[in-house]
Order: sequence, then C-alpha cells, then structure tokens
Amino acid sequence: RETPVAAQEDGSYVVSTYREIADLLHNPHLSSDVRNLSHPMPTHEGDATPAFINLDPPEHDRLRRMAMRHFGPPHTPGLVAGAEGDLTAIVGTLIDGFAGKEQIDIVDDFAYPFPVSVICHLLGVPREDEPRFHLWVEALVDSIDYNPETDPKEKLENGLQARKDLRRYLGGLLEKRHGRPGDDLLTRMANDDGPDGRMTDEEIVSTANLLLIAGHETTVNLITNGMLTLLRHPQVLRRLREEPDLVVPLVEELLRYEPPVHIIPWRAAYSDITVGDTVIPKGSQIMLMLASGSRDPNRFHEPDRFDPDRRDIQHLGFGSGIHLCFGGPLARLETQIALTALVRHLDGPRLVTDPPPYRRSPILRGPVHLLVEQQAAG
Ligand code: HEM
Repeated sequence: RETPVAAQEDGSYVVSTYREIADLLHNPHLSSDVRNLSHPMPTHEGDATPAFINLDPPEHDRLRRMAMRHFGPPHTPGLVAGAEGDLTAIVGTLIDGFAGKEQIDIVDDFAYPFPVSVICHLLGVPREDEPRFHLWVEALVDSIDYNPETDPKEKLENGLQARKDLRRYLGGLLEKRHGRPGDDLLTRMANDDGPDGRMTDEEIVSTANLLLIAGHETTVNLITNGMLTLLRHPQVLRRLREEPDLVVPLVEELLRYEPPVHIIPWRAAYSDITVGDTVIPKGSQIMLMLASGSRDPNRFHEPDRFDPDRRDIQHLGFGSGIHLCFGGPLARLETQIALTALVRHLDGPRLVTDPPPYRRSPILRGPVHLLVEQQAAG
C-alpha cells in the first residue's frame, strides 16, 4: 500500500500492487530474455536454446505458437481437451493406493506423482520410463531454489545433471518419432509442417522440458494448497461434495487466494520505465509479486477471505500478457479433477499438522508434506 514499487539494495525493483503488475506484464519494454538478467537463476546455466518462457518476441511467439497448435485449447481442440478421461483414470489409480493407510500424505501419495504422469502421457513417454521422469523432476525441483550460501553444491549439480539426462532421453525418444504416425505431443511436433515451418529437434526437446518443469511443481502446489484451504474451510468442503460444479469457480479463487507462483523474478527493463512516481532505470531486474497483487485491497473486496462465490476473479495466478501460462487449461482441469475426487473419496478428512511444513522456495509456494487422517472405519 505504501511502496508499490520498491528499489532493492542490489539494484533490482519489487512491484507488489495489482494495477502496476498487470500493466508491466503487458509492457513491451520488459524483457523475459534470461540473457538480459543481471541475476539469472543458477539453473539457467548451460541451456543452448533458452525455453520460450525465457525468450522475447519474435522467437518467443514463434515457438509458443508452434507448441500451442497441438496443446490447445483455447486455440485448438488439441490434446488437453481429449485428456479428461485419462486424467480421471490416473487420479483413480492414485486414490486406490490410499487403501489401508491410516495417514495420507496429499503431496507424496497424490499431488506429486499426478502431474508428472499426465505430462508423460501427453508427451507419449512409455509407461515403463515414468519412474525415471519422477527422479529427474525431483532433482530439478530441488535445485530450482538453490542458494549458494547455504546449500551444498551437490544440490545444484544434481539438478543440472538431471536436466542433461532428461534432454538426452527426450532427444532419443524424438528420433524414433520422425516420420511415424501418432497422436502424442512429441510425434505431433516432430512431424508438423504448420505455417511457422518445422521445429528443430533442439526446439522440441527444449519445449518438452519446459512443459515438464513449468507444469510440475506449480500444479502440485495448486492441488495441495487447494486441499489445505478446503480442510481449513470445512463448510466449503461439504458444499463441494454436494455441488460438484462449484469446483470451477473454487479453483479460480484458489489461484487468487493461495497461488503456487508467488513471484515472477525474471523480467528486465529494456528502457527506462515509469511506474507511478518511480522511474525504473534501463537494465534493472524487476520482480513482480503476483501473490500480493492478487490480494490487493484496491482490486479485491476483503482480499484475505477465501470465497468461491466471488465474482470477477481476475487473478494474476497464471500471469498475463504474452507469457500468460501456456498450461492454464491443463492445470485447471487437473486440479478440478483432483479436488473433486479427493473430497469424494476421503472420509471425514482431518489435518494432522496445521500449518504444514512448507517448501523453502521464495518463488513457488506450497507444503512439502500435507498429512491427512481419515475417520476410523465404522
Ligand atoms: C507460464 C503459472 C501450470 C506451462 C506461466 C506463468 C505463470 C504460470 C505465472 C507466467 C510466467 C511469466 O510470465 O514469466 C502456472 C501455475 C500453474 C501452471 C500457477 C499450475 C497451477 C502449467 C502447466 C504447464 C505450464 C501444467 C504445461 C504443461 C507454462 C509455460 C509457460 C508458463 C510453457 C511459459 C509461457 C510463455 O512464456 O509464453 N505459468 N503454471 N504451466 N506456464 Fe504455467
């Protein structure tokens, strides 16, 4: 409220109010190109082709368009629209695994494996290779918040190694997909001669890698934050059981109230940019505090209240502008299916630890474990 744009000692700027963040996300003088950042993340090292989340137009737009042609909707009927039945089946298998357990960890037993299985399924990764994906993703996720002052170097090295192994594996898989028919995302991208021409193998691998990284922990956190919020609002949980359609506005309100991505830290000013009374000098790194923007009292009435009946929930949970989350339709569908199934199948669920332990990342917010007990049988 007092300092919507705050200059930091290291020369970067933090922006925390709704209007200012939304305007900056649409400002063409802001760059997402990781090569322009004064403080790149250590995990960005060594990427020959930056993924399109870390690129500016025209490269960004071309790569996003080419991947979006197959992924859709809203742009095409694409893979996501046809995936609902498969997603429900994956959720069913995970819930079957709860049988006989006194305590369920919503993270380890459910939310963590679910999005990896979904992306593997969409990409066309053979089922027997999925366990390797889970290990790579774990090492990657663990290294994303690497802090050289407090963490052993091993953590970063494991993450970078996992990144290399994943790329090599995807490259190998892709080689077998050229010239073959198939409906999975890798085969579609490998054989597509759309208006933008063909993607190179390097571009396809980089895109597949991005989908996995951008779509994993974010979705884990949305599902887990969702379950935590429902357990803290039992009247809403009961309502969701009785009114399954409530899940649609409920997931939007969750993206506002407990968003998985708290900060977009990777923007740089291409030129001097004036925000309110502050001039952000050319070359500065800018951090956009999405989570605080989504709780800005000048934009949302009673912003700290969780209210799935809220109208006009234009949250910043998926960002905005040209980098608006590519996987939003998939993440929404996954979370809607997951929460509906969890409230239907858990019998009298009760939180074991409140608050639960949280992951340490300043960018992504979500519990590292969420233990839930069910009512004793009978
Ligand atoms: C971009 C959030 C799930 C793929 C973004 C951005 C946000 C975001 C805030 C904007 C980043 C920026 O402006 O720099 C989330 C949240 C998710 C989620 C909260 C889950 C609840 C997914 C999924 C996928 C995905 C499931 C894919 C399978 C992407 C990609 C971008 C992106 C590729 C880059 C888009 C571009 O640069 O044009 N996401 N995401 N995300 N997301 Fe998501």
